Amino acid sequence: MELLVQPLPRPRDSLHGFVPRPLPIMRPHPGRTRLAGPVLVREAVAADVYATARLHIEHLSVGLFPRLGLRFVACWHRAYVQSPHAVALVAVDPASDGDGRIAGFLVGALDRLAFQQELLTRHRTRLAVRAVVALALRPPVLADFLRTRLRPYLHRLRAPRRVQAVPPGAQPAAPVAELSALAVDPVLRRTGTGRRLTEEFIDRCTAAGAVRVELVAAADSAAAVAFYTSTGWTARRRYDTRDGRALQRFVRWTDIPEVPG
Ligand SMILES: CC(C)(COP(=O)(O)OP(=O)(O)OC[C@H]1O[C@@H](n2cnc3c(N)ncnc32)[C@H](O)[C@@H]1OP(=O)(O)O)[C@@H](O)C(=O)NCCC(=O)NCCS
Repeated sequence: MELLVQPLPRPRDSLHGFVPRPLPIMRPHPGRTRLAGPVLVREAVAADVYATARLHIEHLSVGLFPRLGLRFVACWHRAYVQSPHAVALVAVDPASDGDGRIAGFLVGALDRLAFQQELLTRHRTRLAVRAVVALALRPPVLADFLRTRLRPYLHRLRAPRRVQAVPPGAQPAAPVAELSALAVDPVLRRTGTGRRLTEEFIDRCTAAGAVRVELVAAADSAAAVAFYTSTGWTARRRYDTRDGRALQRFVRWTDIPEVPG
């Protein structure tokens, strides 16, 4: 079978013991959308973040962040591209005539706590400035933010959850990974693109030693719930956000055994 080779080793790979390897191509699903060629999955680079942010805002309207606009979401995605604790992947539309149009993306943390810590140290100022500008330009979003999120955000900034120090001689707790966002352009849906992006992410989480991967999806999104249910994820707790949107938590275990703490 033909394989399209896309070696994109990055310096940070060595941090997780990854051996850079070619990413296999995806095939059109038999009987589904006819593809103009193979869909390529590759790691995102900084130049991709406006394309991934646009997909995020158009197709994944859950939570506050997409409402803060393209510049904020691009800045947030850039943190995943740059972090040794995170992964950013893109799927390239084969019909884009060599332009490399991005038609799907995934961003996620290999170690949720370590990435949160990094966001609060390395990226906090840049994200906060972008958020303030975005809120000033969007009075309805600002009003919602003041009503539903100001207090919890201030609390989190004042008392961030710290990565626990490991007592001498004790085993460090295995990391828990988080799939933060995934979206595929409608032209590529039901071609296996979402599955390919999530499987690549889970392989990387396993290589980084994560015991499980968690995510939240909009409970009222039939496509998202059907996708995760049929690709090996287990539905967990359902809950409502501060603005009344129902969310469904999903989990998937990697091959790393979970040691009871
Ligand atoms: C959810 C989403 C990422 C799925 O991407 P996709 O590339 O279409 O998914 P795949 O083609 O890999 O689908 C894999 C399987 O999931 C299931 N599935 C996917 N979409 C489905 C749908 N709309 N209805 C029912 N089942 C679906 C099917 O079992 C499918 O396998 P099949 O095509 O062999 O039947 C895409 O619909 C999307 O971007 N939605 C908007 C954003 C979103 O909701 N993101 C997820 C929340 S983080």
